[in-house]
Amino acid sequence: MQKLAVEMNNVEFIYPDGLRALSDVNLKIYEGERVVILGPNGAGKSTLLMLINGLLKSTRGNVYVLGLSVEGKNLMEIRRRVGFVFQNPDDQLFCPTLWEDVIFGPLNMGLSKDEVEYRGYEALKAVGLENLKDRPPHHLSLGEKKRAAIATALAMHPQILILDEPTANLDPLGYIELVKILNQLHKERKVTLITATCDINIAPLIADRVYLLNKGKIVGEGLLREVLSNLKLINYANLQPPIITQLFANLVKLGIIKLDKLLPVTIDEAINEIMQLKKD
Ligand SMILES: Nc1ncnc2c1ncn2[C@@H]1O[C@H](COP(=O)(O)OP(=O)(O)OP(=O)(O)O)[C@@H](O)[C@H]1O
Ligand SMILES: [Mg+2]
Repeated sequence: MQKLAVEMNNVEFIYPDGLRALSDVNLKIYEGERVVILGPNGAGKSTLLMLINGLLKSTRGNVYVLGLSVEGKNLMEIRRRVGFVFQNPDDQLFCPTLWEDVIFGPLNMGLSKDEVEYRGYEALKAVGLENLKDRPPHHLSLGEKKRAAIATALAMHPQILILDEPTANLDPLGYIELVKILNQLHKERKVTLITATCDINIAPLIADRVYLLNKGKIVGEGLLREVLSNLKLINYANLQPPIITQLFANLVKLGIIKLDKLLPVTIDEAINEIMQLKKD
């Protein structure tokens, strides 16, 4: 039987000023899954992620990570196994040099010097920052900081990797590289990937399943193509469909093509549909 990586039961979160950020959230993410939490600004995505690693505590309902209830006595263990990339990299980088930031986690795990060094170089190489290792993080560009934040999480070799808006401020090549890195981690180390984003175009490239979040509530859940090609639902969630889905929706509307299947949500799916149309 598949094991649960994260489980939320009837979770509510109200900020101390009274703002209700999440209501009645139910969610099950299994080990080895690639899941995206998709929603517009202010939907509650970051709040939801912070409940997973215990930075925030639900005001109602329960949160479990790898079978452990997210609370005081389990937090150390949970944070050792869950890597977290904050939305704002300044929340993650606090050492005098990038190198110290990247090896901070592995050092605190009590690993050997060689292993710490190996992990540090491996993580920096993965995000293409090995040449900047001696720079102070606050002197890095925003995109470089984002990559640095990702490297600090990678160096921990987490079982679950949580990323909050990982593509924000990345240039197009950085974006493609990130998609590659995440999928490689998933394939080679079976890392469970949980990404929060408002970037609907990246969602199908880094996830198989999606939870749609709007105004603190889960308003949709399912396989990427099923959910993202549901134009009514996407509209209801205050999002826009992927650009390729919009193109196909227009082609169908204009009567230029006919599709019996769901609209494509990635370029690869679009190519398959076109090949099929050419055959018919
Ligand atoms: N510390 C706080 N105190 C009070 N309200 C907060 C606090 N942090 C966030 N909020 C509010 O909680 C709601 C959810 O915020 P959250 O940051 O989780 O949204 P988000 O989906 O991550 O948005 P974004 O796409 O902009 O990152 C918003 O209405 C926000 O204004
Ligand atoms: Mg956020």
